[in-house]
Amino acid sequence: MSVAAVIVAAGSGSRAGGETPKQYRDLAGAPVLVRAYRAFASHPRLDRVVVVVAESWKDHAEQLLSAEASAAGRPAEIVLGGATRTASVRAGLAALASDPPDAVLVHDAARPLASAALIDRVLDVLAAADGAAPALPSSDALKALDDRGGLGADLDRGAVRAVQTPQGFRHAALAAAYAGLAADADLPDEVAVARAAGFNVVAVEGEPDNFKLTRPEDFSRAERLLRAPIARIAAGTGFDAHRLVPGGGLTLCGVRIAADVALAGHSDADVGFHAAVDAVLGALGAGDIGSHFPPAEARWKGADSAAFLAHAAALARAAGAEIQHLDVTLICERPRIGPHRNAMRAALAAGLGVAVERASVKATTTEKMGFTGRGEGIAAQAAATLVWRL
Ligand code: CTP
Ligand code: MG
Repeated sequence: MSVAAVIVAAGSGSRAGGETPKQYRDLAGAPVLVRAYRAFASHPRLDRVVVVVAESWKDHAEQLLSAEASAAGRPAEIVLGGATRTASVRAGLAALASDPPDAVLVHDAARPLASAALIDRVLDVLAAADGAAPALPSSDALKALDDRGGLGADLDRGAVRAVQTPQGFRHAALAAAYAGLAADADLPDEVAVARAAGFNVVAVEGEPDNFKLTRPEDFSRAERLLRAPIARIAAGTGFDAHRLVPGGGLTLCGVRIAADVALAGHSDADVGFHAAVDAVLGALGAGDIGSHFPPAEARWKGADSAAFLAHAAALARAAGAEIQHLDVTLICERPRIGPHRNAMRAALAAGLGVAVERASVKATTTEKMGFTGRGEGIAAQAAATLVWRL
């Protein structure tokens, strides 16, 4: 069964407050959207993941997800959403229309804690059902509000469920349900859309931790779940240098800089990213950049070093480690790094899949001494801090 996910992330997060929409905020080291994306992109049963974003956040989302996608070995598919959640899901489904999967999972980006087991439960049911959604019974007594806004009649707890995402459907069923929906329809979720079209949707067991980040206090609840005590810390260092030659510009820490020189090397010769990769590998005790990406192999010729960085970050995650911090120092007289520093920091953070606060890019000269001082080359050093939690 081919499976696609549509992750809707085009909302403004008004109830969560803050300047940045909730899906782009940091949650224990990684942006919420990255965590939600990772759950699906790394799931072995998923073939495609489409992410639906607001136009003003598209560039940012592309930067965040391209590293995740390359680590998962798939392209990041990003489309623009609409004014309502229903419109955003519709846009995500439209991206699947030309090459429809057998099944589609629709998920809120604001639920970063969905487990692989939950995705499996939803998919397992789809072999025999049109639709399935995770649902939880309430442990609290449920009451309707009376006409004065006070607590009124008791509701039958056994007869209601709180419903989450991912909601899964046979693609043909959900596409038909959306096709039959009025253009301006605004329904709470896909269960409602499918039911409006007469499809039956099966409940599978939901997960209490798969709650939707909705109000400000939800962030501290999610942080508490992710912040187990630290069991081990390792620091790694990296160093790299490349020769400067006449040319048409260079890439440093993922940022293309126009210049009358270039960095010579087998890959894109991004010394900043190379030092960062070695620092991560060093903390993992996992060899060095040359052992993972042998210069002798043709496929790394001219390679985008962001792919090396994403690979190192994926190795760290596979080893159970979290990248706490990465600090890069570029050593050169020229180009001037200051004007590019923020962009470099963002590219470094995106490449590693961490929040920008966890990445740092600094620069220094060597007062015209040595090979960097004479402009023969550019060097970089980096320090990575990785932690393992209990
Ligand atoms: N969503 C969307 N497009 C919209 C509205 C919502 O893609 N026009 C997405 C959100 O980004 C979120 C999910 O739908 O991942 C669930 O919606 P909700 O929690 O309501 O998020 P927001 O609408 O962003 O938040 P709020 O309602 O507090 O403004
Ligand atoms: Mg909303």
